Amino acid sequence: MRRLLVTGGAGFIGANFVHHVLEHTEDEVVVLDSFTYAASRRALEGLPAGRVRVEEGDVRDEGLVDGLVGELAGGDEPGAVVHFAAESHNDNSLRDPSPFVTTNIMGTFTVLEAVRRHGVRLHHISTDEVYGDLELEDPGRFTEDTAYRPSSPYSASKAGADHLVRAWVRSFGVEATLSNCSNNYGPWQHVEKFIPRQITNLLDGGRVKLYGSGNNVRDWIHVDDHSSAVLRILDRGAAGETYLVGADGERSNLEVVRAILRLMGRDPDDFDHVADRAGHDLRYAIDSTRSRTELGWVPRFTSFEEGLARTVEWYAAHADWWRPKKAAIEAAYAAKGQ
Ligand code: NAD
Ligand code: TYD
Repeated sequence: MRRLLVTGGAGFIGANFVHHVLEHTEDEVVVLDSFTYAASRRALEGLPAGRVRVEEGDVRDEGLVDGLVGELAGGDEPGAVVHFAAESHNDNSLRDPSPFVTTNIMGTFTVLEAVRRHGVRLHHISTDEVYGDLELEDPGRFTEDTAYRPSSPYSASKAGADHLVRAWVRSFGVEATLSNCSNNYGPWQHVEKFIPRQITNLLDGGRVKLYGSGNNVRDWIHVDDHSSAVLRILDRGAAGETYLVGADGERSNLEVVRAILRLMGRDPDDFDHVADRAGHDLRYAIDSTRSRTELGWVPRFTSFEEGLARTVEWYAAHADWWRPKKAAIEAAYAAKGQ
């Protein structure tokens, strides 16, 4: 049994991770989340009170973070912080980079100082977007040794956070691991993101919106497989190391859109091309050999189409959750010609 402090545990991946931990371990969890627009209380409803406590607060709040990390120090059971809290949407970072810089960089700094003071283990959640993009025709994939080359305010702020973590490991001996995962999909993902946006557009009688040519490639992984990888790293990861997490799920955006349209019984060519994203990264692709060989991790969702079909079903069954968020998000996209 471990005691975990999960920052950002009311967001898409954090909430799925909390469910995964409860299902697959005996661990106890404290969630720290400031409940931005991206968070969902509903995603954490009905969890056993004896094992989960939710603290509403900001990861940049030094006193609060220090107190919560301090609770993990000492005691019979080992404690660890799993740091998901972040501003996470590229398009938002182009409109207003400010919270990306303060939450993603200063928030990580605040967590690092607290784990340093209290001698607590940290797992830092990052993204493959810190590596920038690959050419469409490039046969290569990102590895743990790929140089950082972030393109957007979002990815640059995540890159900055990763650099801080590595510096705290080297300079202060903080016991931290890092993971850089590819694009996640699954339940509780906000309707601003690509896959839920298209599914809910169709469920609402609207149309699918593809940025630019649609040739950009993303490497999709089911969120449950990301959670299992993070648990593996907590169990078996070596301090100071970085693990890349991906499930060989490369698809162009055009292929994803057509798969969604087919799954929902529509003509696969019935979509709109809309204004492209500024600085739009071309291709992401993860080589996760190291996570598989050193940690023995394997993804369970090896068929993207099957995972996507389940995700379509989930959104169809949870319209009462996403519909209240939908109109404002679509109005903001429409104002940008997207
Ligand atoms: P999300 O936007 O759905 O959730 C982020 C959560 O963090 C929300 O609950 C929000 O309320 C909380 N938060 C934001 N600012 C905060 C602050 N200042 N203090 C406390 N809590 C705050 O994001 P997500 O998609 O679940 O991503 C979670 C993490 O995983 C992020 O670090 C992201 O960079 C990383 N990641 C995401 C993906 C992806 O495909 N979504 C892929 C790889 C890595
Ligand atoms: P997104 O879910 O925002 O993730 P990321 O920017 O982290 O990869 O977008 C995934 C891809 O889908 C990206 O190439 C942008 C594209 N996209 C669209 O084509 N249409 C949309 O409506 C959205 C939101 C994204």
